[in-house]
Amino acid sequence: MNNPASVADTWWSNGIIYQIYPLTFADGNGDGVGDLQGIIDRLDYLNDGNPDSDTSLHVDALWLSPINASPMVDNGYDVSDYYTICPTFGTCEDFDRLLQAAHDRGVRIIMDLVVNHTSDEHSWFKESATGRDNPKADWYLWQEPAEGGEVPNNWQSYFGGTGWTYCKSRGQFYFHTFNENQPDLNWQNPEVRQAIYDVIRYWLDRGVDGFRLDASSAYSKDPDFRDNPLKYGASDPNRYDNYHHLYNKNLPENHRIIQQMRSILDEYQGDGQSPADGHRLLIGETFIDNRLFDSVTFHGVNDDELHLPLNFEFPLSPWYPGHLQRDIEKQERLTPGWGWPCYFLDNHDLPRHLSRWIKCSLCVDPLAIGKAAAALLLTVRGTPILYYGQELGMVDHEEIPPERIRDRAVVVNEGDAPPPRDGARTPMQWDNSPQAGFSFGKDVEPWLPVNPNYSSLNVEKALADPNSILNFYQQLIRIRQQSSALRRGSWRSLVNYPHEHLVYLRETSAETVLVAINFSYEKPFEVDYPLNRDDWRVLLSTDYESGKVIDLADTLKPFEVSILQKDQPYSMP
Ligand code: GLC
Repeated sequence: MNNPASVADTWWSNGIIYQIYPLTFADGNGDGVGDLQGIIDRLDYLNDGNPDSDTSLHVDALWLSPINASPMVDNGYDVSDYYTICPTFGTCEDFDRLLQAAHDRGVRIIMDLVVNHTSDEHSWFKESATGRDNPKADWYLWQEPAEGGEVPNNWQSYFGGTGWTYCKSRGQFYFHTFNENQPDLNWQNPEVRQAIYDVIRYWLDRGVDGFRLDASSAYSKDPDFRDNPLKYGASDPNRYDNYHHLYNKNLPENHRIIQQMRSILDEYQGDGQSPADGHRLLIGETFIDNRLFDSVTFHGVNDDELHLPLNFEFPLSPWYPGHLQRDIEKQERLTPGWGWPCYFLDNHDLPRHLSRWIKCSLCVDPLAIGKAAAALLLTVRGTPILYYGQELGMVDHEEIPPERIRDRAVVVNEGDAPPPRDGARTPMQWDNSPQAGFSFGKDVEPWLPVNPNYSSLNVEKALADPNSILNFYQQLIRIRQQSSALRRGSWRSLVNYPHEHLVYLRETSAETVLVAINFSYEKPFEVDYPLNRDDWRVLLSTDYESGKVIDLADTLKPFEVSILQKDQPYSMP
C-alpha cells in the first residue's frame, strides 16, 4: 500500500491545478476570443495572493490548453510553431507578463505540450512532404501504399476513419492518430527527439513550471507498422474502438521517451526560476483504452517518468458510489509508493460532469450533485485538477447551432467520430452582462455562444451567494490548505460495499479527517460507523455549522456532505 510519507512534499502534491481553455476563459482585447491578457485580468479570481480573501479560489497552478501558433483545426492541439504564441492569444511578451504576474502570486504555469503530432502547416511537415529526399524526409510516419494503392495498414484515426492520408508529392501515405491535418511525428528519429527536447528546454528556460503532455501514450509506433488486432467479437473494421492498439499506442519505447523528457525537467529542479520550490511538473495524458492499469505504469519504475499520469477511469465513472470507490481503491492500490495520484472530473474533451451525471442519475439537483462531486474531488488522496467553470457548476451548452460549431477536427470526420466537444468549451460565465462578462467587445460574437443559463449562473452571483457551488469549492480549498491530513494523509474507506454513500478517512500521525457523502437524493442513510463517536469538529458540511463539535449522527441526510476532523490519530473503538 502507499506510504504517503515517501512522497516528496512538493507544491504540486500539496496543490490544486486549474485548467484554462484560453479561447473561452476571458477576452482581454474585445475581439470575442479569449487571450492571455484576459487571463492576466482575471488572475485575482484564481488566486489574488492573499490567503484570507474570499473573492479568490486560491488555486496553485494554471494549466493552459495550447497557446502556441496554430491554424486552429483542433483549436491549438495542432501546433505550427512551438516557439511562438498564437497571435489570437497575444505575444511572447504577453506570455512573459502572465508568467510574472502568476509567479508574483505564487501561482505556477503549466503549458500543454502537443508533440505526438504537429499541424500539417508546421514548416517541418511542409518540408517533409515535399519529397522523399529532404533533410526532414523521415520526420513523420511515411509509408508506401499497399497493393492496389490501399492504405498501408489497418490503423484508424481516433477522430474517425483511416489514420492514413495520401500525399501526392511523395506518392506515400502519412499516419495521423487524430485529424489528417495533424500528422504524427516519427519519434524513432533522433533528430525529432532532439528538436522536441529543445522546445522543452526553451520554455523551461523562459520560466514555465511544467507541461501537460498531450496524447503522451501515443508517441511511439511499431517500426514494422503491423496491423492492430481487432477486438474479440468486433465486426466493423473501420472503428477506432474496435481495435487493440497494440502497435500504435503505449509501446514500451514510449516510456523511454518520457524518461528522457523527465530527465530534462529534473535538471531544472530548484534552479530558482520558479516561485518558492522550483520543482517542474510533468503531467501526461495517459489515455489507454481508459485503463488505469496502463496509465499508472507512466510513473516509471523508479520515479523517472510522469509525476502525474491522468486517470480517466474516475471521470468516466457513473455517478454511483460503488464505482467511484472502486476507482479510488484501484488508484490507491496501483500507484507506486513514491508516486502521487491525480484526479479530475472535467476537461476540454469530455461533457462536463454535471451534464453527464444529471443525465444518468435520478437527481436533477445540480447544486446537490455539484457539491457532493466537489467534496469527493477535493478530499481524495491526490492532486485535484479543476476545469474552468466547474467550480460554478457550469453545464454543457447543448444547443450550439451547427454553423457556430468550432470543433472542426472532429466534425470533418463524421460517422464514427466522437461528438464535437464544444458544449463543454463555452465562455466562462463571469457576470450577467452581455456575453457573460467574457468579452467587452460590443459588436463581436464570442468565439462560442455563451450558455443561456449565464444570467443565473455566474461568478459575480455565485460569490455573493453563501449557498453556491463556488462558495463550497472555496471552502473546500480553504480546509484543504489548513489540513495536512486532507492534503497528504493516507486514504481508508470505512465502507466496503457502498451503495448510497461514501465514508472514508484521511489520516496522518497527528490528525484524522472523516469524509461522509450521501449520494441518495431522497432518503436519509443509516450509517454504521465503526468509530469513536464523540469529539469530531465540523470542518465543512452541507448540514452542520463549521467549527461545531458534534457526535457522529446515525444518519446522513439526503445529499449530506460532512467533513469532520480530530486532532489525533484515529484508533478503532
Ligand atoms: C488530446 C487533447 C484533445 C486533442 C487531441 C489531439 O486528446 O486533449 O483535445 O484533440 O489530443 O491533439
